[in-house]
Amino acid sequence: MVSTKSLLLAAFTTIAYAAPTKGPCKSLTPTLPSTGGDNLQGPSPAARLKKIALGHGIQNYTCSASDATPSATGALAVLYDATTVYPGLSKTALSSDAFNSLPHLLLWDRPVPLNRPSNSSYSADTTSPFPAHNDLKGLADYPSFKYAGHHFFDSTGTPMFDLDASGLKASVVKGGNVNAPKDADKGVLDTGAVAWLRLTDSKKGESKGVNLVYRVLTAGGDAEGCAVAGTGVQSVPYTAFYWFYEE
Ligand SMILES: *[C@@H]1O[C@H](CO)[C@@H](O)[C@H](O)[C@H]1NC(C)=O
Ligand SMILES: *[C@@H]1O[C@H](CO)[C@@H](O)[C@H](O)[C@H]1NC(C)=O
Repeated sequence: MVSTKSLLLAAFTTIAYAAPTKGPCKSLTPTLPSTGGDNLQGPSPAARLKKIALGHGIQNYTCSASDATPSATGALAVLYDATTVYPGLSKTALSSDAFNSLPHLLLWDRPVPLNRPSNSSYSADTTSPFPAHNDLKGLADYPSFKYAGHHFFDSTGTPMFDLDASGLKASVVKGGNVNAPKDADKGVLDTGAVAWLRLTDSKKGESKGVNLVYRVLTAGGDAEGCAVAGTGVQSVPYTAFYWFYEE
C-alpha cells in the first residue's frame, strides 16, 4: 500500500505515478493552465514543481486623485495546499473542471480570510492581518485544503510567499505578465481578474526551495477606478492558483 504522501514525492521527483487501478505506471507532468491566448514563458524542462497553492486575499491599490489611475501597492493572501487534488496526481484528485473552478468558487463562497477591521470594506487589519492558520474546509463537493502559508509584501515592497507549513519560501520580482482570459471571473466588485504572472527570484537570498512562481487562473482583484474608489487605499478581493517551482 503506497501512501498519498510517498506517491506525491514520487510524482515530484520522477514525475511518475501509479494509476489508481492496477496496470502500468503512467507518467504525469502537471502543466500550467493556459490562457487560451498569450501565455507566460513556461518553466524550464529541468524545473521541479514543489507545490500548487490556492490563494485567497486582497490586492491593494492607491489613488492619488479621483481622476488618477489606480496604482498597485501590494497584496495579502492566505494560501491553501491544492497539490494533491491536481487532476491525475492522487486518489483524491479532482477532474480538470472541478480543479479549474476552484478560484471562482472560493472567491464567492467565502469571505476574505483576513482580519478585517469592519464588514463595510475589504481592507485588512494593518498590524495583524492574518488570522490563525485554518485549513479550508467545507467547500461543497471538495475535500479539505490544508493551510499552506501566506503571501504578502515585505517592508521593502518585495512580494513574498512564506509557505511555513512546508518550509518553502519565495521572495520574487515580476518576470512576465499576460492578461487573464476574457471569460475570467471579474470578481465581487465586477472589476476584472488580475493578470497571470511569472515571478522570478528577487536575488535577495530570502527564498528557500523555490525560485519561480506563477500566478494563474485568477478571479477578481482588479482595481476600481479612482472616480469610484476615491483617493487613498483600496483593497479588492481576489483568488488565484500559485504554482511554485525550483529550477
Ligand atoms: C460581520 O459579518 C459577520 C458575518 O460575516 C457577522 O457575524 C457579524 O455580526 C458582522 N459584524 C458587524 C459589526 O456587522
Ligand atoms: C493592504 O491593505 C491593507 C488594508 O486593507 C493593509 O492592512 C495591508 O498592510 C496592505 N498591504 C500591502 C502589502 O499593501
